[in-house]
Amino acid sequence: MPFDSPMDPGWDPLLAAAWTAWERAYVPYSRFRVGAALLLQDGSTLEGCNVENASYSMTICAERTAIVSAVARGAVPGQLRALVVVTEATELTPPCGACRQVLAEFADSLPILLANRTGRQRVDLRTLLPEAFTGRNMGFGTAGELPSPPMKP
Ligand code: THU
Repeated sequence: MPFDSPMDPGWDPLLAAAWTAWERAYVPYSRFRVGAALLLQDGSTLEGCNVENASYSMTICAERTAIVSAVARGAVPGQLRALVVVTEATELTPPCGACRQVLAEFADSLPILLANRTGRQRVDLRTLLPEAFTGRNMGFGTAGELPSPPMKP
């Protein structure tokens, strides 16, 4: 079963994709580059990087760039397999609270690898955001069971 350990070779292509995205980060204000890569059930990979704005609160994180890109490509809840987040920070960078919440919309549990140039740590979304507020709390189904409104022809 891939992704169980931080050294599992299954992480390597995702790590490479995350570092490529890291190079594309638009960070004129913080200078803090973040790269992300999301693997979907169908084997496709979507990259994300942080995109900052002069109106600081309009900044979007790398993780949310990746998930939004995945949805734009057709991903639905239940189709996420793994996520990698990379920075050059000495201490590994976990997804911020907002990104955890957005990820929890699409996955109950998700293997996540945090990495910098020298270290790796395997965490899981379930551990990062226990007891997440989801559609279930409003009487909807679990992630993956939520019906989408029918599309107009
Ligand atoms: N950032 C991310 O891209 N992901 C996170 O999970 C943490 C923060 C970005 C946002 C901003 O561009 C910079 O890091 C500093 O907060």
